[in-house]
Amino acid sequence: MVAIETKEIKAAKTQYGVASFITDRFSPRAFSDKEISAETMNTLFEAASWAASANNEQPWVYYFAHKNTEGFNRLFDCLMPGNRPWAKDAAVLVVSAARKTFAANGNNNVAAAHDLGMANAQLLLQACAMDIYGHPIGGFDKQKTAEFLEMGENLQPLCMFALGYLGDAEQLEEPYKSRELSERTRKPLSEFVNAL
Ligand SMILES: Cc1cc2nc3c(=O)[nH]c(=O)nc-3n(C[C@H](O)[C@H](O)[C@H](O)COP(=O)(O)O)c2cc1C
Repeated sequence: MVAIETKEIKAAKTQYGVASFITDRFSPRAFSDKEISAETMNTLFEAASWAASANNEQPWVYYFAHKNTEGFNRLFDCLMPGNRPWAKDAAVLVVSAARKTFAANGNNNVAAAHDLGMANAQLLLQACAMDIYGHPIGGFDKQKTAEFLEMGENLQPLCMFALGYLGDAEQLEEPYKSRELSERTRKPLSEFVNAL
């Protein structure tokens, strides 16, 4: 019930006819105890895999761990302090990384971070369609994460996610509770769209 209220507050108030699968996505901090199944995790990663990428390179690599596992605890230890009070309740922590070079010739892939972002967006939208929400996290120790995951030089960890079914905003301490219950805002199109 409470999660439904949060969804209503967070739904994007749009001026045009933006599709609901986009307006409904948001980055929560209150997660429930419900686990995410292995089948569902595969569905999310498959959704990510269908993103567009330069030369169809698919430069994304994912690592994930369910709550109450050693892997989860190790990833949690990589988070910056401000992300810990709520990310601890996530059902799954995910690390996304970009392969910096093209497999075929070793050349630098300048689109790698862009394409990882495309895949991550699809993962989040697929999750939302399954009533699972993801909170992207850039606030983590990237060097520590890369070392733990033995990524090597060619992989760049760029974004973590806390994933889970929605919980109750009341379970959060401040300032996270207020953030969970505040509307989302965006710049007007006039600030970033240029018609020629
Ligand atoms: C690359 C990236 C890094 C982010 N890092 C953090 C973070 O460290 N901590 C946090 O609370 N939110 C983080 N966020 C979430 C953003 O603050 C959030 O997406 C933004 O405020 C818009 O809110 P919405 O996702 O609900 O629309 C990050 C988002 C992205 C895409």
